[in-house]
This record gives sequence, structure tokens and C-alpha cells, in this order.
Amino acid sequence: YDPKTPQYLTSDKTSFASVSAHERWPVILTGAIDDLHRTVGDVPTTNEEKRAEGKTIIEELAKLKYELQHNRQLTPLLDDGEPDIAEYNDELEKRGNPKWHDVPWLYSECYMYRRIATLFNRSQFWKGYDVFSRQKMSTFKSSRPAVLELAARYKALALEAEKQSKDGLSEEQIEEAERIIFTEMCEICLWGNATDLSLLTSLTYEDIQKLQGSEARKAAEKNILVNDVAAAYNVLRDARKSKKAGEERRVDIVLDNAGFELFVDLILAGYLLSAGLATTVVLRPKVIPWFVSDVVPKDFADLITAIANPQAFYTAADDSGREYPPLSDEELSNVQFLFGQWSSFHAEGKLVLRPHRFWTAAGSFWRLPKTAQDLYEDLKEPELVLFKGDLNYRKLTSDAAWDPTTPFTEAIGPLGPKSGIRILSFRTCKADVVVGLKPGEDERLRQLPDGGGDSGARKWAWSGKWAVVSFSDGKL
Ligand code: F6P
Ligand code: MG
Repeated sequence: YDPKTPQYLTSDKTSFASVSAHERWPVILTGAIDDLHRTVGDVPTTNEEKRAEGKTIIEELAKLKYELQHNRQLTPLLDDGEPDIAEYNDELEKRGNPKWHDVPWLYSECYMYRRIATLFNRSQFWKGYDVFSRQKMSTFKSSRPAVLELAARYKALALEAEKQSKDGLSEEQIEEAERIIFTEMCEICLWGNATDLSLLTSLTYEDIQKLQGSEARKAAEKNILVNDVAAAYNVLRDARKSKKAGEERRVDIVLDNAGFELFVDLILAGYLLSAGLATTVVLRPKVIPWFVSDVVPKDFADLITAIANPQAFYTAADDSGREYPPLSDEELSNVQFLFGQWSSFHAEGKLVLRPHRFWTAAGSFWRLPKTAQDLYEDLKEPELVLFKGDLNYRKLTSDAAWDPTTPFTEAIGPLGPKSGIRILSFRTCKADVVVGLKPGEDERLRQLPDGGGDSGARKWAWSGKWAVVSFSDGKL
């Protein structure tokens, strides 16, 4: 149930896999060590047991970093009571206990985060601790201008939508307007993925501003290499026409990152519900901290708490000593509008969170029908499943070295035609794998500055500057 096309390896010097294993992961592990060090330092000296255990975990993290940098073998994961450990270890054995610098990229990167989780799960005092939480929240705080801009835009659109229906426009005109807004919402949601903490390991406040906001989005439209948003709109519109009033029309969002990206996912979810393009939205977070910035249920709660009291959240002093001006009354009321909508959707059961362990397994989504049948069946229910982000795209395509003109529906194997799952994948490109391109497109992009040229590396696809939005109907 894996494709025959080989996966990218950390030993391939022309792949971002190699850069990741040699340069990025040590930085990420150092960040994790620093975070825990800080937290342990804050534990009162009266709680010596917890401090001591925290220090042991720091040593274990340092050991993991040492093994990675010295190209040791990946060691079997220690049991932390969860069933996926056996899966990880079986696969490790089948792959011949590889070394860090010559192992499939996808497996080894998942292994690294799963191993970090075992350290906390097996502890007495640190269960559930998230070494990335601090970073996720502080980046969300840095997104203040974009959050305020979007809150204003969202409120205006919601009010406009109300007004339009009253103006007695023709059905076509209303549909055309809806299609345009849907497209804008999808683009907001797509580019929200550009700010990912595992890739941008040292973002400044100013860098974050540049990546977000409507100006940046307009400029980036030409960078969407495949854009199937229209197909997704048609699906939702047709479902609204064909299903009976009161019948459920669900959209699932397989989440990627917390903070700003989760905020824009909620903007899209809120829009789908209020425009009547869906009656329920199911959000699917991870169960353990994952690829630095991915959403765990607590991140959802943290975000809601932040926007419930935006004045306190956005003006609180932080480590940098930077001062933040208070929000204006209008800004406050826009954020409160969002909060009001989201909390009532949540309270009415229209916006739900549904975690699953499958999302943190090491294998690709080609394995879904075999290894997580319950989830597979559940994903057939909605009208559409949105997969957010780069890692989900890598997992859909098994992180394999496909020819870039391979159709998306072929590269996703068992989740393609006849799977019963309708997929829209939103992805800013941050890894080598890419499919569904027009012939000659990859070659053209390679010739651009920083595109990789004749080095053999597809460098243009590593930076998050380019994107693909790919659709698969999955008809039975
Ligand atoms: O390319 C860098 C990287 O960390 C990949 O390993 C991973 O696929 C991706 O970024 C995570 O990005 P996203 O949050 O968009 O899935
Ligand atoms: Mg992520």
C-alpha cells in the first residue's frame, strides 16, 4: 500500500531532505531544549522531583540531537502505552534500522517528533507538555496586524452577504459574488500556511508582517501553480442545491499549523457556515506536538482564549521588551464579532474538533484505508475534505519522487478515484515533491533566481513562495 515510486531520502544531496536533516532539525531540537530549560527553571525549588525529571528529559533531547548530528542509527522508540509505537518500530526494523543521514525523509522526520513525545508521555510530571507551545503563541501575537485586518474584512463580508440577499439580485449574480468571496477566503487560507515555524526558524516581527495581509496575497496570486478552487466551490454549491433542507453538509479540515494559520482556517470555516456552503465543519488536529507548529487541541483553546480578550493578549509585554499600542474600539469590535460567531458555532455543534492518531503515524496517507478504517469511513461522509499545508501534501503523495506532470489523482493512490473521499489540498511548497504541473513548468521554475538551475535540486519548491491547490473528486 505504498507507491513504487521511491521516496525522498536524507542522503540525497539535491533534496531538501538533506538540508533538513543536516541543518534544520538540529536547530529545532536546540529550540526544544531551550524551551524546556526555561520551563524547568521556573519550577519552584520545592518541587525537586519535577525539576529533576525535567532535566532528565533535557538530557534525552540532547542525546537525540547528538545521534542525529553524528549519523547514528535510529533506535526503536520506547513504549509509552500508545499503539502506534509498535507500528513505528516494525517499520524501523523493516527498513533495516537506518542511520539518520540515509533514511526516507518522511519516516525520519515523523520519528523525530514521535520520539520527543515519548519523553513526555513516559514521564510522571511532564505528561502533555508541548515544547513548541510558547513559540506558537508568540508568533500568533506577532500576527496582530494581519489578524486585525482579516477580522475587519470578515465582518464586512458577513454584513455584505446579508445585504445582498435583501437587494433582490438574480441568482447568477449572487452565485458569482459568492464564488469570488469563496475564492478569496480560500486564498487567505492557503497563504496562511506560509508562516510555518518548522521552516522559518528565525522569523522577525517584520518578516511575519510581509508574509501576511491582503497586499501580499494579491501579489502572490500568480504564484499558485495549480488552482482547483473553482471545482471545490461547485461541489459545495451543488450539494446545497441537491440536499434537502436540514440534511447535513459537512466540510472537514485536516489542520496544519496553529496560531495565524488556525486563525485563517477558522475564518474559512466561519465563512462556509455563515454563507450556507456547509452546515458542519469538522476540524482535525494532531494528538501530540508535531512538526513544531501543528495544531493540538490545546492550541485551539489558547487561540479562542486570546481572541476572547484581544486587548489583554495583544498588548501584554513580552520578552523582547517591545511595547504594543492598545487596540482601537473598532478593532476590538471586529475581533469580538469573530469571537461571537465562532463560539456560537462551537456551542451549537456546527464547529467541532476531532483528533485522530493516524495523523501522527509515520506512513503516508496511501495507508489510510488499511491502517485507519474508522477514519477512512468517517472521511467519506463530508462533501469535501480540505488538507492544509505541506506535510499533508507530502503524505498524500507519499513524499515520493514523482514526475512533476503526474496527475494529482494518480499520485494520491488509494485516496484518488473511487476512494469515496473528495479532496482539496491547499499547500505552499516547502518540499521537493510536486505533481500536477504542466509540461515544462518545473524546468521553467528551475531557471528562475533561486530556482535550483542545473544543480539537480528543485530549489524553487522549498521556500513556500509557490503554491498548489489540487482537487480530487474520489467518485465511487
Ligand atoms: O520543508 C520544511 C518542512 O518542515 C517540512 O519538513 C514539512 O513538510 C513542512 O515544512 C511543514 O510545513 P507545513 O506546516 O506546511 O506542513
Ligand atoms: Mg505544520
